[in-house]
Amino acid sequence: MARILITNGTIVSPSGRYASDVFIDGETIQAIFQPGQAASLGIVADKVIDATGKYVIPGGVDVHTHMELPMGPIEATDTFETGSNAAAWGGITTIVDMALQRKGENIQDGLAAWHQKAAGNCSIDYAFHQIMGDIHDQSLKDMTYLVEHEGVTSFKLFMAYPDTYYSDDGQILRAMQEASNNGAVIMMHAENGMAIDVLIQQHLARGETDPVFHSISRPSLLEGEATHRAIVLSQVAGNVPLYIVHMSASEALNEVARAQHEGLNVFAETCPQYLYLTLEEHLSQPDFEGAKFVCSPPIRSRHDHHHHQSDLWKGLRMNELAVVSTDHCPFCFKDQKTLGRNDFSKIPNGLPGVEHRMELIYQGVVLGELSLERWVETCCTTPARMFGMYPKKGIIAPGADADIVVWDPHQKTTIGINGKHHMNTDYSAFEGTVIDGKVDTVLSRGMVVVENDTFTGRKGHGKYVKRDLCQYLH
Ligand code: URP
Ligand code: ZN
Ligand code: ZN
Repeated sequence: MARILITNGTIVSPSGRYASDVFIDGETIQAIFQPGQAASLGIVADKVIDATGKYVIPGGVDVHTHMELPMGPIEATDTFETGSNAAAWGGITTIVDMALQRKGENIQDGLAAWHQKAAGNCSIDYAFHQIMGDIHDQSLKDMTYLVEHEGVTSFKLFMAYPDTYYSDDGQILRAMQEASNNGAVIMMHAENGMAIDVLIQQHLARGETDPVFHSISRPSLLEGEATHRAIVLSQVAGNVPLYIVHMSASEALNEVARAQHEGLNVFAETCPQYLYLTLEEHLSQPDFEGAKFVCSPPIRSRHDHHHHQSDLWKGLRMNELAVVSTDHCPFCFKDQKTLGRNDFSKIPNGLPGVEHRMELIYQGVVLGELSLERWVETCCTTPARMFGMYPKKGIIAPGADADIVVWDPHQKTTIGINGKHHMNTDYSAFEGTVIDGKVDTVLSRGMVVVENDTFTGRKGHGKYVKRDLCQYLH
């Protein structure tokens, strides 16, 4: 593999920005040089990437994706091949996807199935969390086995979806107690699914079937309540690390901030859709178009008691929200979202997003919502540390994997299917959005995978990453 010098750029890390050159040998970052130092040392590279006027940042780490996730009779439309390629286009060099255990299934079989889907198909590196959809004696033993032998150190549980993945409080407590012994992080989908199901039935009985009722039947209070309950259970289990996924609501954020203030090991992520989309402008679109924005927790109203979006941006600035992920779970409008045309509860939940996280959060920098450093921290460095992949991932330093993005702040990106996005969906949730910046060049372990608006990656280049325990605690 080649020796590559990225020169004349500004490296951005969580702790600052500085003009330096990056020297890559094969798959690894070999050295960081002062500008001009490589030439004076007689370093010769096979390829020089000129990053004049550009930022050089660690490759993005998206710790929440669902490639090929089965949902009832259908499946999320991105395969590991199409999804990892779209991720690379968007400056992501590692994804952590959610392997699935459904009720009645064995955890180890679920993980094996995910390995089979991904192996040989990814253009960037990948790792797995494990969804636990059936908690009992055997699955708890399997959980510890995965932590100790498989590099799977985080487990997603659901307080929502009583018909499918739901765990009751007793099951959640048992999983948390197991995690307090094996060191795993518990990831929680925090919505009160039992109460939500009652509200859904009441809306449908009144003939309120449009997509907007998806959000109205999942009030933010019930996200706050479930977040509170998850925190209390984690405390009872011995302050086990708890990571609230895809947070959408001020009430939930306030619970996390309070828990952090009390010294509990509680972390949280949000996603671009919750920072930008609204019930009024998106979910309420006529002709069933609102279905394009159906995900859970739902897109919130801008007229709620709380201003969720400005609270979430504040949470990102204050580190109450440590990570931005995408919860990429793509479905097409045609034939998939339309399954719920007469009943919002039948609309498959999830949005396409893996390609646009770096861009949409960078726009937060342009808008003055967070700093350039915090962009890198929430999208690259903290996700790697939170899920045991640091310092191979999430940092530009000697010894790290050469996963690097050259970012051009002087160009623009127009998001959407008309701007030819690469995710396997027939619509974009951010159609027409213009970003004041652009992914210029992307390297995955020393291989240039995007350059000059061309995909140069290779199916199968991406390797499975066996993860360590959360590096904020171990
Ligand atoms: O609507 C969503 N979020 N779909 C993906 C599954 C999940 O709950 O994360
Ligand atoms: Zn979820
Ligand atoms: Zn998800």
